[in-house]
Amino acid sequence: MTTENKRKIWTAPEIVETYLAFFRERGHLEIPGSPLVVPDGTTLFVVAGMQPLMPYLRGQVAPPAPRLTDLQRCLRTDDIDAVGTNGRKLTSFHMLGNWSIGDYTRREAIALALDLLDCFGVERSSLWVTTFAGEPSLGLARDEVAVEEWRRVGMPESRIVPLEMDDNFWSTGGPGPCGPDSEIFVDRGEAVGCGKPECRPGCSCERFLEIWNLVFSEFEQRPDGGYEPLPIRSVDTGMGLERVAAVMQGVLSVYETDLFAPALRRLRELAPSGISDGASETRAVRMILDHTRTALLAGLAGVTPGRDGRGSVVRRLIRRAARQGYVLGLRQPFLGELVAPLVAGHGTLLTPRERERALEIARTLGDEERRFARVLATGLREVERIRPDDDGTVAGERLFVLHAERGFPADLAAEVLAERGITVRWPEYERAFAEHRAISRVGTGAQSQTA
Ligand code: SER
Repeated sequence: MTTENKRKIWTAPEIVETYLAFFRERGHLEIPGSPLVVPDGTTLFVVAGMQPLMPYLRGQVAPPAPRLTDLQRCLRTDDIDAVGTNGRKLTSFHMLGNWSIGDYTRREAIALALDLLDCFGVERSSLWVTTFAGEPSLGLARDEVAVEEWRRVGMPESRIVPLEMDDNFWSTGGPGPCGPDSEIFVDRGEAVGCGKPECRPGCSCERFLEIWNLVFSEFEQRPDGGYEPLPIRSVDTGMGLERVAAVMQGVLSVYETDLFAPALRRLRELAPSGISDGASETRAVRMILDHTRTALLAGLAGVTPGRDGRGSVVRRLIRRAARQGYVLGLRQPFLGELVAPLVAGHGTLLTPRERERALEIARTLGDEERRFARVLATGLREVERIRPDDDGTVAGERLFVLHAERGFPADLAAEVLAERGITVRWPEYERAFAEHRAISRVGTGAQSQTA
């Protein structure tokens, strides 16, 4: 590690260039990231860096080279509710990856990762790693080889943490290549942690930040949930650019990195009475930045807000972000204003063509937000009037009526209620919905066709 690298503040584009060059120099072929929209429709968007490479990992298609590297934009909303509650969760992110398709295994993957982190100037003494503890009931063995390799490169025993299936066996969540993984964490110090004696990688606090996941892709998850060995053993790694940038730029959250900093400044200017560092305001800022960027990246991939499929994901993000504007005292549409600073923050991560098109996306975002503004204002007033029953719940039917009569989305209403500690009795929502559908059918005579 050079003293120069230790002192250097790396921009996100520099991190990307250095990562790709490092792996190119070590025999990896750089391939372009795939478009964010998955053409075969297996998922709405690319959810993981490895997704476009699945045919290679499965041994179905020969890769252009046994060692690959790339930068892949990903979008996944499965844990959207966690976005904003901490400084690391995002609905879209840039995944840097290096792959061995049936070539090197744990030893080289681990050595390469450590070498690059040295180049990046990340202190070895701040690193912790997790490994797979095994799951005998599924016939999945404890990953002793990964532990051995970490020991070999000098990782102290106390900083090698074996974790269970949920943490250290990576899969897409459905059929596909999967396997035990070893995750690399940076310890950002006790001062930012929860202070619990058992705090360590895997803890939900801000102290240990996972920056890189090395997946030893060895199994295929069958549709019935079982596992069978893949014909080739590969390595699939993913380094979250936003997170590693936070580490290398010495900031605690991804929202303070160069990627988001200009948009954060703009948001502060726009908020009429400043932004305090209270929990709900911090969450609002993060949700706005995250959701707007995701809508921008989806827009650049050709997705516009709409009722169904991908468009509905974007619409939901815009509406959630617009609602968080209320938390910051913003009553006028503002999301379009964040696009230019987001573009500035992303620098060369966007192509010149994308930078041009961003203007158009800013307009689309603004139009969508304006169309929703009145519904948002009246809907929020209605939601405020909702009083919970004695057990702190509210009938789902209330939300159904709010949606049917005012167009206010039930999930958004539920989110606002959750902030007041109120939960929704969803079965009553479903019932109201089913009844409404039955009535509409009678109205259109549709029931006679099915009778
Ligand atoms: N597939 C793993 C992930 O997305 C590593 O690339 O985290």
